[in-house]
Amino acid sequence: MREMQHDSSTIAWNALGDEWFELAQTGESRICFIMPHMLRLMGDVAGKRILDLGCGEGGYSRELAKRGASIVAVDCSVKAIEYAISLAEKENLPIDHYVRNSNDLFGIASEQFDIVLCSMMLMDCEDFDGTLREAYRVLKPGGRLFASVLHPCFDGNKETGIGREGVGESRYAVVMNYFEPKEWEAPLHKGTIPVIWRHRTLEDYVKAFLRAGFTIVDLNEPRATEEQAASSVALSFLRRIPLYLYWELKK
Ligand SMILES: C[S@@+](CC[C@H](N)C(=O)[O-])C[C@H]1O[C@@H](n2cnc3c(N)ncnc32)[C@H](O)[C@@H]1O
Repeated sequence: MREMQHDSSTIAWNALGDEWFELAQTGESRICFIMPHMLRLMGDVAGKRILDLGCGEGGYSRELAKRGASIVAVDCSVKAIEYAISLAEKENLPIDHYVRNSNDLFGIASEQFDIVLCSMMLMDCEDFDGTLREAYRVLKPGGRLFASVLHPCFDGNKETGIGREGVGESRYAVVMNYFEPKEWEAPLHKGTIPVIWRHRTLEDYVKAFLRAGFTIVDLNEPRATEEQAASSVALSFLRRIPLYLYWELKK
């Protein structure tokens, strides 16, 4: 039986486990902003075959399955996949799960998906070109890759590169170095166990997408609505500065 080949991203995320599941399911930005925006962009998914690549605790997979899509969910973290399976079973959702490094989706056939979803994972994986090559391979001709990432112009390593200062209405983004650092270790927001973070510039993203053969269809920098901004300080910042970037690519 062939086994997943580890690299720095898969090792870091396998160490995380429960802490991440808790954060994912309670984090305001993810629940109230990042996830609803992605689901809106993906539109009507009924009858579509979707690969949720870097599925984590499986929140997108379950929601997309409830909306009538047929889902394959992949993550490098054994604990994440075990957790995602347990929640899918609890809700009786027929989702196929695999533990894989995103750069080698062995056992997953080519040209079968209408959509590959990479929610907040392209900035984590070490082998970016390999991940895009595999996403491209498993998509049907004309299939779409939907991806969200931390906006590389406004989020990064606060100590040396890109971050935020101040509180509340006087919070602002600081860019000291757009090009460095390219990677660093730090816990997730409100977490304790470090993962490896990777900064990819806009140019890095675009050139890698084109190298893999994708066409860029759309790019979105979602802005919080006035209603969202009024509901919390974190979301009110998103009324002024986009911290997330969404891509739609076509095979
Ligand atoms: C920030 S989490 C996002 C999880 C989920 N997509 C979401 O939006 O809630 C990043 C996920 O990517 C996974 N991941 C990181 N590197 C990976 C790799 N090389 N191959 C597969 N999964 C990877 C992690 O285990 C983690 O579950």
